[in-house]
Amino acid sequence: MRVFVSRRPPGTALERLDARHEVEVWPEPSQPSADELREHARTAEGLLAMLTDRIDAELIAACPSLRAISNYAVGVDNVDLDAASERAIPVGHTPGVLTDSTADLALALMLAAARRIVEGHELVRRGEWLTWGPDFILGRDLHGATVGIVGYGRIGQAVGRRVEGFGCQVLYTSRSGGTTLEELLERSDFVTLHVPLSNATRGLVGAEALSRMKPTAYLVNTARGPLVDTDALGRALREGAIAGAALDVTDPEPLPGEHPLLDAPNLTVVPHVGSATHATRAAMADIAVDNLLAALAGERMPYCANPQVYEGLPHQAGPRQSG
Ligand code: GLV
Ligand code: GLV
Repeated sequence: MRVFVSRRPPGTALERLDARHEVEVWPEPSQPSADELREHARTAEGLLAMLTDRIDAELIAACPSLRAISNYAVGVDNVDLDAASERAIPVGHTPGVLTDSTADLALALMLAAARRIVEGHELVRRGEWLTWGPDFILGRDLHGATVGIVGYGRIGQAVGRRVEGFGCQVLYTSRSGGTTLEELLERSDFVTLHVPLSNATRGLVGAEALSRMKPTAYLVNTARGPLVDTDALGRALREGAIAGAALDVTDPEPLPGEHPLLDAPNLTVVPHVGSATHATRAAMADIAVDNLLAALAGERMPYCANPQVYEGLPHQAGPRQSG
């Protein structure tokens, strides 16, 4: 069957796809435009998509042969799940394998922000390290701090395990317990976001939420940019309403070099690299290919984000997971 792959993932997983299907891989290092994506996916039965590809109802409608979408990400906010489900198209994703890498990055960002790592590095590179000083470039401690984890799924819990090792007190919000978001914001020294992006979570951290945070607290986002209101965050940083922010994801994304947020003080930004290790990206490719191979063979995707497409179908053994 015809499969379009919108960017070549690292590792050897694509070879397994190639062995069974007619695979076209987008040849450029940059992403296909919406038109290019539609043009190349139009006749495909399978689509291996990146989180930067917008798989909306219009695209799905333009691809009449499509029977499987495999997203190379755990988050599926770039895919219109309802439109896919209406056509009974399963949407695969890659949970689990990127949990620890993303949690590691959240810790790196907490420490970078609170210990002013990037600022110190740039200062040394500029030749401005003139003397040691008792009050030179002071930050705040992660050890012993109260860490508020917004969303206590796989990644949130992995962050929790890590900060417990730092002697932190953990607060969390989750669908099945924990504290309220208000209390978490008011009590935490670090607020770290680990919820998926949906209509319910878009703008979750806006002016109101930021004003509840302590002026000594840091905001960390390794989940999705639009969880945070970018303008409100810029204002909070400029006004010193919070101590700092460290972002792996932004809104917009990519964040243009001239974006006003970049002029805000106490901001650390990295370019959406939560899962960006050699091992994790290869493991994600394996799962993305497994999802596609299963669906194109008429079997259940091992990791399906809209398992309702299988309701009424005979149950098959195998791992099941939803986002
Ligand atoms: C990365 O952001 C992912 O959702 O996998
Ligand atoms: C993703 O792996 C999550 O936190 O649910």
